[in-house]
Amino acid sequence: MTTFPSSLSAPAQRLLASIQSNDARVGVVGLGYVGLPLAHALHRGGLRVLGFDVDNGKIQALARGENYLKHLGTELTTDLQASPRFEATSNFDRLGEADVLIVCVPTPIGIHQEPDISYILRTATAIGKTLRSGQLIILESTTYPGTTREDMMPAVMHAASDRAHTLASGRDVFFAFSPEREDPGRKSHTTSSIPKLVGGLDEASTKLATAVYEKGITTVVPVASAEIAESAKLLENIFRAVNIAMVNEMKVVLHAMGIDIWEVVRAASTKPFGFMPFYPGPGLGGHCIPIDPFYLTWKAKETGHSTRFIELAGEINTAMPAYVIDRVAEALNEQSKSVKGSRVLVLGLAYKADIDDVRESPSFELIELLQHRGAHVEYHDPHCPATWAGRRHDLQMTSVALDASSLANFDCVLIATAHSAVDYALLAKHAALVIDTRDAMRKYEATMGARLVRA
Ligand SMILES: NC(=O)c1ccc[n+]([C@@H]2O[C@H](COP(=O)([O-])OP(=O)(O)OC[C@H]3O[C@@H](n4cnc5c(N)ncnc54)[C@H](O)[C@@H]3O)[C@@H](O)[C@H]2O)c1
Repeated sequence: MTTFPSSLSAPAQRLLASIQSNDARVGVVGLGYVGLPLAHALHRGGLRVLGFDVDNGKIQALARGENYLKHLGTELTTDLQASPRFEATSNFDRLGEADVLIVCVPTPIGIHQEPDISYILRTATAIGKTLRSGQLIILESTTYPGTTREDMMPAVMHAASDRAHTLASGRDVFFAFSPEREDPGRKSHTTSSIPKLVGGLDEASTKLATAVYEKGITTVVPVASAEIAESAKLLENIFRAVNIAMVNEMKVVLHAMGIDIWEVVRAASTKPFGFMPFYPGPGLGGHCIPIDPFYLTWKAKETGHSTRFIELAGEINTAMPAYVIDRVAEALNEQSKSVKGSRVLVLGLAYKADIDDVRESPSFELIELLQHRGAHVEYHDPHCPATWAGRRHDLQMTSVALDASSLANFDCVLIATAHSAVDYALLAKHAALVIDTRDAMRKYEATMGARLVRA
């Protein structure tokens, strides 16, 4: 537990005491993949939690105890619904009721891969309108280094400028950054068990934010500044993007040599040090890895530097869907069929196994590339019954059934996501051709012969 440093201002000391005694009320702004489990973890730690979201559908679902994020299970929302210490609202005039505000809003990129921090700035302005002494504001949304100090804090203070003479950052109001490291669907970790980095704009802010997270998270790691915490998150995601690109590149090269990348990764993984496995795939998906690295690329230009690793990884990873479709074309060709006119079933719409998150999923790109080449495309995903309009795609499709008779209608099944609920034995038995980008069919290799192609 955080000690009580005497150097803290009176408002900071009061806030720290109220956090430690569970009197403080925490507002979580943005109740999505990041905000909802965080709200639950802090609530379970004993704090009073007030959730905010612009999406009134989510507020109403929470009031009914329904979970709109299926991978989190229903217990989470029934816990919150039953508690007098939790409430959710879309009334942003109530932001002033919270002693601590944790901002978990989206940070997408624009069509020219420029950061879009407009959600953060809108939230900052709303917070500023009701800002009062003794409030701590923590940003969790992934962003470029400097956002908390150079963008968010000034936006909050600007909106509170009529009270500027009474509110000084670091004395009366406090700001910190704490990156979210959520990995939806991962069973080995929960929000509470993933160590939490915390970096404030000043020492008092770091101490206060650390005290908040210590309520619901087992390991909290204070770092020297908000910029270090912001950059650490980007390093984690860039590390993944670059390594995935490397293994994707190696997949293409090894395929040309007739060598199986999956067996190579498994073989290299036997080394007990100095190696970490990354797996190839049909392209990058999810809200983080395809997007966040480009926040640094944009910011780096300010210093006259380029981010060559990020650009190269982006180039290789975004070329993967087209590579996979070339492999589909080759495999159909082997069966004397063309892509044009073929019926292709894309298996898996979500960007990774066993979740329903389709954000930035390469499956959309695969479907469009196939359609562009004249294929008739359907999809099956047990977690995603229908598509809806996204940032870049609006396919207006619904998931088709997966059974022996439906499989008989397709010339080819393209496995884009290896959901564990799918019956792969059924595919092995009834599919005319399977293109496997996830190594989901290995145990049927012998029985399928030329009907199974890895891509
Ligand atoms: N999903 C992940 O696995 C993950 C992991 C690490 C970091 N992040 C980062 O966390 C942030 C949030 O991501 P997410 O996955 O939770 O997104 P999400 O889309 O699931 O949730 C964001 C929520 O914010 C709400 N919202 C939008 N504008 C708002 C506003 N002005 N005020 C209040 N609420 C608003 C949306 O309705 C939505 O419920 C992003 O910066 C993301 O990069 C996400």
